[in-house]
Amino acid sequence: MSEHLLDVHVTKRFGNMTVLNDVRFHVDKNEFLVIVGPTSCGKTTLANIISGIDTAYDGTVQLQGQTVNPKVHNISYVFQEPSCIPWYTMLQDVTMGPIIKGMDPSRAEEIGRRCIKLVDMAGFENYYPRQLSGGMQQRVAIARAYATSPDLLVMDEPFGHLDAQTRYLMQIEIMRIWHEDKKTVVFITNNIEEAVYVGSRILVLSRLPATIKDEHIIDLPYPRDLTDAEFLRIREAITLQCEAVD
Ligand SMILES: Nc1ncnc2c1ncn2[C@@H]1O[C@H](COP(=O)(O)OP(=O)(O)O)[C@@H](O)[C@H]1O
Ligand SMILES: [Mg+2]
Repeated sequence: MSEHLLDVHVTKRFGNMTVLNDVRFHVDKNEFLVIVGPTSCGKTTLANIISGIDTAYDGTVQLQGQTVNPKVHNISYVFQEPSCIPWYTMLQDVTMGPIIKGMDPSRAEEIGRRCIKLVDMAGFENYYPRQLSGGMQQRVAIARAYATSPDLLVMDEPFGHLDAQTRYLMQIEIMRIWHEDKKTVVFITNNIEEAVYVGSRILVLSRLPATIKDEHIIDLPYPRDLTDAEFLRIREAITLQCEAVD
């Protein structure tokens, strides 16, 4: 059995169009892996495959040594689009996952409150989504994702809809949350600066059909300095890789 938490080796076609071409990588336990690539290169397609939502691919996706399966594995997903249920308060939203999994409601509430605190939203438990800003709603989505204590947390451009200032604050927040409660995260983005800000390892995807162009191990300390020379060098190198047509 592989010692990696997740092992991926996939090719994916929609009809005649190959979207993912022999994409092969692994993710280690408690790693914060970033996958960066241009718009429409196949990132969401890959996210759907590794989280077991899409099973129509060639190849293998093994989580803990078994084919990935949402019925067997505990996988959480944070989407780009706002995903709060309009008529649920924040606490109801965050406790929904554990309750669906059969947890006793009072224990689920205890966990929900802890996750709300983790994303720095204590005091907003009884708020509805319409009363929360976009950044706050993404905090709810992160709290919901954490509440089931997932083996794998897949985040697909989670801050893509946010304004630049809120996005930057959320990048700081997601690193704080991850350091406080380590989970295995696959974080997908088309924003290169964001990738270098959060990733401990970055995979660079090519344009369609996506292949893995390169891997960067980033050992700069957190929180990272956006103006640090090494930060800028890595950002530049990835930008050139993303722009290259080959
Ligand atoms: N269900 C689908 N059927 C056909 N083509 C699809 C489907 N989903 C995505 N695609 C195509 O696959 C390519 C990659 O899409 P996607 O994974 O959403 O890219 P990204 O998330 O990187 O922007 C695009 O060309 C898109 O049109
Ligand atoms: Mg996408």
